[in-house]
Amino acid sequence: MGKSKKYGINTRALHTKKRIELPTGDVMSPLHLTSTYENPVPGESEYFYGRVNNPTRELFERTISSLEGNENYEEIPGLAMASGMASVALIAELIKPDENVVITKDVYGGTTNFFATIARKRGLEVNFCDMYDLEKLESLINSKTKLVWIESPSNPNMNIYDLSKISELAHSEGALLVADSTFCTPFITRPFEHGVDIIMHSTTKYIGGHSDTLGGVIVVNNLEIRETLYEYQKTSGGIMSPFDSYLCQRGLYTLGPRIELHSRNAHQLAEYLSTSEHIKETRYPGLKDSENHDIASKQMDYFGGMLSFFLEDHINEESFWKELNLYKLAVSLGGVETLIEVPYLMTHEKVTGLDGEVINNAPEKLIRISVGIENIEDLIDDMDSALNASKK
Ligand SMILES: Cc1ncc(COP(=O)(O)O)c(C=O)c1O
Repeated sequence: MGKSKKYGINTRALHTKKRIELPTGDVMSPLHLTSTYENPVPGESEYFYGRVNNPTRELFERTISSLEGNENYEEIPGLAMASGMASVALIAELIKPDENVVITKDVYGGTTNFFATIARKRGLEVNFCDMYDLEKLESLINSKTKLVWIESPSNPNMNIYDLSKISELAHSEGALLVADSTFCTPFITRPFEHGVDIIMHSTTKYIGGHSDTLGGVIVVNNLEIRETLYEYQKTSGGIMSPFDSYLCQRGLYTLGPRIELHSRNAHQLAEYLSTSEHIKETRYPGLKDSENHDIASKQMDYFGGMLSFFLEDHINEESFWKELNLYKLAVSLGGVETLIEVPYLMTHEKVTGLDGEVINNAPEKLIRISVGIENIEDLIDDMDSALNASKK
């Protein structure tokens, strides 16, 4: 299936060309559990050690590359890693000590922490920037900028950044634009279409889709960058295990229909919250009066399964958490079940950079929901009862 681009995205999720076709004709590719491979002669086999390559991992890496829009996915597969953070760390290897990275202020807390502490300790210059402020961004990008890094929608503020405009600014000085597309997946936004150079996902989230695997993946559309990252991947060794690769590949088969359902449910829940007397503010890019609605409509095929909101002051929070039945109070997102959390307390701890700068992009009282695929009437009823029972 070399002409993969001619097929629709749901078809491509199911029909990636496998590198290894077994004589048994397995319809579903098996889970290859081996750390080493027997070779016919010394030094000539491509498969010789599991850290370097594994057919289960390769199938997932090919499929995600195809979904992100690489027609030549056999030549330029993704790079599957042990976690989203392992992907962040691998991409950061592209920056040398005399270079700098400009990163959005409102990025996942772990990513903020990585750049504010570990990257700086290695001597990299790290500049955090409000990515709505394009003048500020332009002033921070210079000939030493290797990477510009964004997350859109951002976690947990639900800001949507204009990928095309930011990529123009990054490219004007020869920098590469990285997009953490965990909230979107290729079924919502395909960042290469907007000038992004490096895409990463925490596959722990929508791609795995069932809250039972941890992983990350990087996809690029440039062979040279892929080669460099592949060298780092196999040498530093933070690869995705065969079993996690199997789960992620399996997750891709149903990702399209799940994203549709997550998005439809989130939209309805956001409509409910935005008209509730108990809610101060609802952030969901699908809401017509959302400040991000226009740019979201340009960049996103669906508005996604994530939303955030603030309770009105008359709601007793302690009671609210107790009254919810279907919303599990837990970190992470993108699974089939609905999860709710307070990012300020649970995922986005304050980070103090080496220069004393305090970075925290999660407002103290913001609540985030990863809307699952339950019946939406049940989710709305449960929220409504919890809110009404929690009036002070
Ligand atoms: C947007 C985003 N990027 C990266 C990560 C890190 O991924 P992982 O937990 O798989 O290391 C997360 C985790 O929540 C995330 O939400």
